[in-house]
Amino acid sequence: MVKICCLGAGYVGGPTMAVIALKCPDIQVVVVDITKSRIDAWNSDTLPIYEPGLDEVVKQCRGKNLFFSNDIEKHVSEADIIFVSVNTPTKTRGLGAGKAADLTYWESAARMIADVAKSDKIVVEKSTVPVKTAEAIEKILTHNSNGINFQILSNPEFLAEGTAIQDLFNPDRVLIGGRETPEGQKAVQTLKAVYAHWVPEDQILTTNLWSAELSKLAANAFLAQRISSVNAMSALCEATGANVSEVSYAVGKDSRIGPKFLNASVGFGGSCFQKDILNLVYICECNGLPEVANYWKQVIKINDYQKSRFVNRVVSSMFNTVANKKIAVLGFAFKKDTGDTRETPAIDVCKGLLGDKAKISIYDPQVTEDQIQRDPTTTKQVSVTWDAYEATKDAHGICIMTEWDEFKTLDYKKIYDSMQKPAFVFDGRNVVDSEKLREIGFIVYSIGKPLDGWLKDMPAVA
Ligand code: NAD
Ligand code: UDX
Repeated sequence: MVKICCLGAGYVGGPTMAVIALKCPDIQVVVVDITKSRIDAWNSDTLPIYEPGLDEVVKQCRGKNLFFSNDIEKHVSEADIIFVSVNTPTKTRGLGAGKAADLTYWESAARMIADVAKSDKIVVEKSTVPVKTAEAIEKILTHNSNGINFQILSNPEFLAEGTAIQDLFNPDRVLIGGRETPEGQKAVQTLKAVYAHWVPEDQILTTNLWSAELSKLAANAFLAQRISSVNAMSALCEATGANVSEVSYAVGKDSRIGPKFLNASVGFGGSCFQKDILNLVYICECNGLPEVANYWKQVIKINDYQKSRFVNRVVSSMFNTVANKKIAVLGFAFKKDTGDTRETPAIDVCKGLLGDKAKISIYDPQVTEDQIQRDPTTTKQVSVTWDAYEATKDAHGICIMTEWDEFKTLDYKKIYDSMQKPAFVFDGRNVVDSEKLREIGFIVYSIGKPLDGWLKDMPAVA
């Protein structure tokens, strides 16, 4: 039986390995982590992450060929294939701070593998890493190898949170990069055979190591760029009376452009886009390509602009001050169907409103009070409720930050009646029916849509 060990039981390691275990009953999969509470949660009835469909997959395989453990060294030493799916956040200090990827966790994982391995291993980069990381990892592994053969593969993960299980069941492609040596190609084929249990062979792409590493950064940069492009258009739509939904529909009908990922929003969030673009920018700068670096930097600048434009719109619409006004924030996760709040635009919007002394009441169906209070910017200055009606009671305005389906079907008449007047809705995700809300009496702002008379009369937004 082939044995797989995955280092890192997070948003990628957990779901990815659960699906491999489900699809490959002949393979034993053990997911390990340095955080004991995370492993305990994976072994409990309340998994550490919320992801539609994940519970069912885990329940089907846990204890059969899927295991979660803190005994890292034992399982690494027994494994044939080791996936490394540890976090690679942006560096906060030292060389490249604010841009470069922090590979501390990766490096310590590689050193541990080198220390405990007693047989040949295939080590798979699952984390998103800078191009050429495999070279550094190879050096760490082979430096201490004691005659053991390590093959490094790059197998970046393309799942999106909220649809992870669906994405893993039916990936657009699986990408495997390896050395162009006979041993490297043999390792590529071994990993390909794992995915071939359920992914059609023509969707399993094989490349050299550097192409695989770079393709992941490139894919995220292209995706984020589409959002910044449509968000840039949303500002122009508001200024001209065009409707961004109509514009993106018309643009997306061009088969060369395509309809997906063109929804204007308060800005993209999540742990990947900003981090990976900053990393790409840093790599470009290190390779003497400042023009290319500046090109990608703009994607983040527009995203920051979109978030501050939203805050300015809220404040300017409400007579240029939100001091002591209750603002209900509906949705705190960075997108629907996840409880993840990493880099969520809601944090920046709350920060902006708190800067103007607003009183904020937050409701998100999957985000706990503890999780929100842990963010240093929101601590003690916000209240968190478990009910949208409670959050909006006596509020002057509502900011919709996440496109949760339930926000489409709230009883907005009941909400309107319980609010201060004039009652405002600022829809950062274009989820509500603005016309219906206007009929009730709300003043409604929807990103990139023609403005209410009220909003038009307010001072221009920078
Ligand atoms: P995460 O923070 O949820 O999980 C990482 C886990 O690794 C943590 O539980 C941490 O305790 C553990 N860890 C750190 N060092 C370890 C070590 N030496 N041994 C064992 N465990 C260790 O992160 P994530 O969201 O799963 O992302 C992991 C990687 O995958 C990142 O590089 C990310 O960029 C990439 N990625 C993420 C997504 C996503 O949607 N979240 C999608 C594609 C790729
Ligand atoms: C992203 C990539 O999609 C995925 O391939 C990669 O593996 C990890 O990074 P994720 O961040 O989980 O996935 O979610 P995604 O669906 O890409 O959304 C990212 C952000 O963009 C969210 O805040 C979302 O609301 C926003 N978004 C997305 C828009 O504002 N408009 C869109 O049209 C699409």
